[in-house]
Amino acid sequence: MRLSSLIGLPRILWRDLIMFLSDATMSFDDVMAAYFFVDTAYQHTWSKLEVHRTLLKDEVRMQAFEKAIGEAVKPGATVIDVGTGTGILAFMAARAGAGKVVGVDSASIIEVARKAAQRNGFKNVEFVRADLRDVYGPKADLIICELIGMFITDEGITYKMAKMLPLLKEGGKVMPERLDIYVVPVESKDAGLGFWGDIHGIDYSAVGRVPREMRNYDMSAARFLSPPQKAAAVELANPEKGGLGFEGVFEISSDGEFHGCVMYFEAKLSEGVTLSTDPRKPQTHWKQVFLPSGGRMALKRGDRLKVSVKSALNDTKWLWKYSVG
Ligand SMILES: C[S@@+](CC[C@H](N)C(=O)[O-])C[C@H]1O[C@@H](n2cnc3c(N)ncnc32)[C@H](O)[C@@H]1O
Repeated sequence: MRLSSLIGLPRILWRDLIMFLSDATMSFDDVMAAYFFVDTAYQHTWSKLEVHRTLLKDEVRMQAFEKAIGEAVKPGATVIDVGTGTGILAFMAARAGAGKVVGVDSASIIEVARKAAQRNGFKNVEFVRADLRDVYGPKADLIICELIGMFITDEGITYKMAKMLPLLKEGGKVMPERLDIYVVPVESKDAGLGFWGDIHGIDYSAVGRVPREMRNYDMSAARFLSPPQKAAAVELANPEKGGLGFEGVFEISSDGEFHGCVMYFEAKLSEGVTLSTDPRKPQTHWKQVFLPSGGRMALKRGDRLKVSVKSALNDTKWLWKYSVG
């Protein structure tokens, strides 16, 4: 296919295509190059105030980061905030007593951070508009990287944090320190189930089942059919390269209709602070990731549900498979 005929592809397809091509080779630098390409295409999205408003009004997130930064920043420390956006976490670090804070972001939203620094009189906070791959200093006592995506790993947090690690001083800390990812089979009366029927007088029941599409949904009303299991534990100061994977067997603890698995994270931000998107806890803007089964399977107490979930396309997507037996 000629490149000129690809130019008109919607951006989302570009992203998939780039991620697909880069996945084939999988060297760390190639993946970073692919992310650079994607991040450049996404800068217009990241520059939108509305996107950042969603983050700033997520009180669960804000309070967790403020507390963790207060704990982790030692007086006079040097802090780098990667993907600083409006600079909010950089300002929290300065307020917690950092000597020097550098906020890095490749999108124009960083101008908002610069203006806020001026207006609030922060003299020790510097904002650098650059891709994180082009940042060579200073060495930091703490590197903050809030690049947790709506599908947890899809903003490239594992790769991007790894790229920043050479700038961490001996004994320095990263935030988050760890990401634990949990999976749990659920019955859900919601999450779009039963939608494909009569829509404005048109019969769509031929769709026949719930599309097997990974989606972001508030799953707080879902009923757990067994206890959750930890599907991955990512140490961000020492990330494993090559994808995240989980294969587990869930013993069903109560009869129900299985509609898919919910995936959520617990991010250890500092020694005493964990930020969680567990659907049983107060909701965040991340909500939960729902991996639908594509159908309705009746399960009985004691049934054994095999679940395989793994990240693909350089962590931007999840692939999943369910079977009983
Ligand atoms: C989830 S937002 C976080 C914003 C801010 N830290 C906060 O907590 O409110 C992620 C930010 O990372 C930036 N970003 C993503 N990839 C980047 C890259 N490769 N280099 C520099 N900035 C990047 C985006 O432009 C975006 O502003």
